Amino acid sequence: MSKVFNISSDIKNAETLPAEFYRSQDVFEAIKEKVFLRTWQYVGDENLVQLTESVHPFILLNNYLTEPLVLTRDKEDNIRCFSNVCTHRGNIVVNNPGKARQLVCMYHGRRFGLNGAFKSMPEFEKAENFPRPCDDLHEFVLRALGPFLFTGLNPAFDFDEVLSIMTERIGFLPLHEFKFEPTTSRDYLVNCHWALYCDNYLEGFHIPFVHQDLNEVLDYGSYTTEIYEHANLQIGYANDGTEIFDLPEYHKDYGKSVGAYYYWVFPNMMFNFYPWGLSINVVKPISLNKTRVSFITYVYDENKFADGAAAMIDKVEREDEFVVEGVHKGVQSRFYNTGRFSPTREKGVHHFHGLLAKYLSKS
Ligand code: FES
Ligand SMILES: [Fe+2]
Repeated sequence: MSKVFNISSDIKNAETLPAEFYRSQDVFEAIKEKVFLRTWQYVGDENLVQLTESVHPFILLNNYLTEPLVLTRDKEDNIRCFSNVCTHRGNIVVNNPGKARQLVCMYHGRRFGLNGAFKSMPEFEKAENFPRPCDDLHEFVLRALGPFLFTGLNPAFDFDEVLSIMTERIGFLPLHEFKFEPTTSRDYLVNCHWALYCDNYLEGFHIPFVHQDLNEVLDYGSYTTEIYEHANLQIGYANDGTEIFDLPEYHKDYGKSVGAYYYWVFPNMMFNFYPWGLSINVVKPISLNKTRVSFITYVYDENKFADGAAAMIDKVEREDEFVVEGVHKGVQSRFYNTGRFSPTREKGVHHFHGLLAKYLSKS
């Protein structure tokens, strides 16, 4: 029975998650099964399986969920996601990405189609009641936002909910033309609990205090946060002279100087759309005190990107790391238990804490 946390739904009275949430190994483990197993994760873009009849093995959240999966693209261009564990005695089936007409387990030769279906197995002629449906590879749901793929091991909600929220505002962007930019994509190792990193992302309250340069290009006064069920959106409005989105006339925000749409998807994904493209951040728990944050950059408008955007992202990230590592040390204190939320500036953090409490209390 894991610890139950209560977060008042009324932000004016609510207290933040207590320090114990960030300190407890038991809670850290409970989050794995109750939160990460029941939500969605970013897999990568569809170029992982660029060619028809190709495969791409990967580990979902290595060192935390550590679930071996494989993406396949068949002749008809269907992309699917399966367990990469052989249904015979549990060997990893696919070890290398690339062209493949079928999946062959090298241990004893069991074969599967690119649709995960059992095909053949030597020395099993005398096995009775074989093959059964459970001899096929287990398939996981796969959803796409443009070329970006998501899967969930046992998700408690439909990802279409998130897709429709994001499409409402960024649906006008030609996501299939976004180009992966390896030079500005990298992982940051942060000495903090993963949820502290998200807490910090979920409020723009700290921008004037922590990010001087960013504060100069954003209009802090009109910064807004919109809350949805499993996602929220922060909108950064630009100061004069800063790049803004060229919004079509039918767009909800047409006429406004939008400099950034910051989407967060429960529990650990961030999709930051800028006039030049997209920065995806995936927050990956490693241990109570260590988190890997993957920054993945896609450029759409080279001219706007050339304008120091990458340097700004890196600078802001280092400033954020400094404060979240400070908070991580602080919440270990015997004299800190819990705090309160700013009703005007911390709606996103309150939303996150409420969702964590809710998912942890589910049996
Ligand atoms: S474990 Fe795959 S064929 Fe035996
Ligand atoms: Fe920040």
